[in-house]
Amino acid sequence: MLLEDNQLTKDMDESRQGEVFSDSKSVNPGERGHYYIESYGCAMNFNDSEIVASILSKEGFAPITDMFAADLILVNTCSIREKAEYNVRQRLREFDKVKKERPGTLVGVLGCMAERLKKKLLEEEKLVDMVIGPDAYRDIPNLIAQAEDGEKGLNVLLSRDETYADINPVRINSNGVCAFISIMRGCDNMCSFCVVPFTRGRERSRDAFSILAEAQDLFDRGYREVTLLGQNVDSYKWENPENKEAVSFAQLMEMVASIHPDLRIRFSTSHPKDITDEVLFTMNKFENICDYIHLPAQSGNSRILKLMNRTYDREWYIQKIDRIYELNPDCAISSDIIAGFCTETEAEHKDSLSIIEYAKYSMSYMFKYSERPGTLAERKYEDDIPEEVKKRRLSEIVETQMRISFEHNQKDIGKTFKVLIEGNSKKSDQQWKGRNSQNKMIIFEKLGKHKPGDYVEVKVNSATKATLLGEMINS
Ligand code: SAH
Ligand code: SF4
Ligand code: F3S
Repeated sequence: MLLEDNQLTKDMDESRQGEVFSDSKSVNPGERGHYYIESYGCAMNFNDSEIVASILSKEGFAPITDMFAADLILVNTCSIREKAEYNVRQRLREFDKVKKERPGTLVGVLGCMAERLKKKLLEEEKLVDMVIGPDAYRDIPNLIAQAEDGEKGLNVLLSRDETYADINPVRINSNGVCAFISIMRGCDNMCSFCVVPFTRGRERSRDAFSILAEAQDLFDRGYREVTLLGQNVDSYKWENPENKEAVSFAQLMEMVASIHPDLRIRFSTSHPKDITDEVLFTMNKFENICDYIHLPAQSGNSRILKLMNRTYDREWYIQKIDRIYELNPDCAISSDIIAGFCTETEAEHKDSLSIIEYAKYSMSYMFKYSERPGTLAERKYEDDIPEEVKKRRLSEIVETQMRISFEHNQKDIGKTFKVLIEGNSKKSDQQWKGRNSQNKMIIFEKLGKHKPGDYVEVKVNSATKATLLGEMINS
């Protein structure tokens, strides 16, 4: 995973998928050829690539890790910041090399850049054969057939009801233990800086029973953690057509958590305006719903929050933080912070530093403001904070967060946590890595007979700002 602005910018918009694991049950894998897929952006995009993999496997395409051997190269893109788009454009140059070596290879651009740029992408990037928006993946087989006949294809229609509820994702991005489940798509919030409502369309929630079936199937196949995904999970709302009863996010969580106590539930992202006590109570009711909330503040200053159209102010946000810690003192909270939004003063920037201190975030994703075409902020406000100032403010935010993360982790020394083993640590196959309920990565020596997917008790002996180091007990 490559890092963008700073060490703690851990979102996935600059990362790309490495290995491809397929548990596809395709009837004739590889009959039509092989596809290579790279994903950028948020977890939802990675999950979308798994939906695309499912559609492709039904068509007889098999995944491949070597792009030079692929008949079809797909790149699932992100538009969230200018840099994310720039990286994809650079990546397209590499795909051009494949096309030169292997004429006939088709290149498709999926995801948010496809949606934002539409046919401009076909005009500007001559190597691209297909441009497919996030709601049009069912059309991929047709677009491939068309491209095989030499005709470039475009489908960027947004939908009001597409949730891909009936498609069982092929887990190409998975370690076999943790999986993403998209529970809703789109976003109706219109934060003034954000391109997502334009690239992902209107908010819609997926059939609760299809979510439940997917989670049950994952559990039966040995998965032990699911992350329920949405741009704004707390506004999940689905009406059961049978009895007209509405299912809220808290109810959905309860349904999924009831599948089995050994299936961990995480969720992302919560919008501070929407997270309810009902959600917090449900989290407390189930041991297997993790004590972790990603609650992006974006800024700690009320005037800037208003300009950002976040619909809450500093006081409201602080009340939410207080409430979470009141109901669950063990809960870890993380955030997203934007440095140098339009007209932000030094004093207002300091409010972002102090919100990090106040909320005691376990970690944050931190970004420099990047103006996005078509957003409210681009139309209404001047992007007037000089680049060096944005950079400096970002590094102050990062320094503050690193200090708070370090303190947060130091407090865990001596404590024992239930850890779900995810696999070997990066450094050694003699060590496991896994996360505790609070979403902290813990590294520990292997002891006894365990495997990924097992829960073990680990006592923390030391900690850095990013990781806990511990030892297994009662193995
Ligand atoms: N739906 C999620 C966020 C999705 S985008 C939420 O509302 O929390 C992930 C993060 O990217 C945002 O939280 C924000 O911090 C950041 N981001 C979005 N637009 C940005 C922009 N124009 N410049 C810099 N960061 C941005
Ligand atoms: Fe973007 Fe705001 Fe929607 Fe998140 S809630 S995706 S930041 S518009
Ligand atoms: Fe990026 Fe689209 Fe996700 S803009 S962050 S890939 S919704």
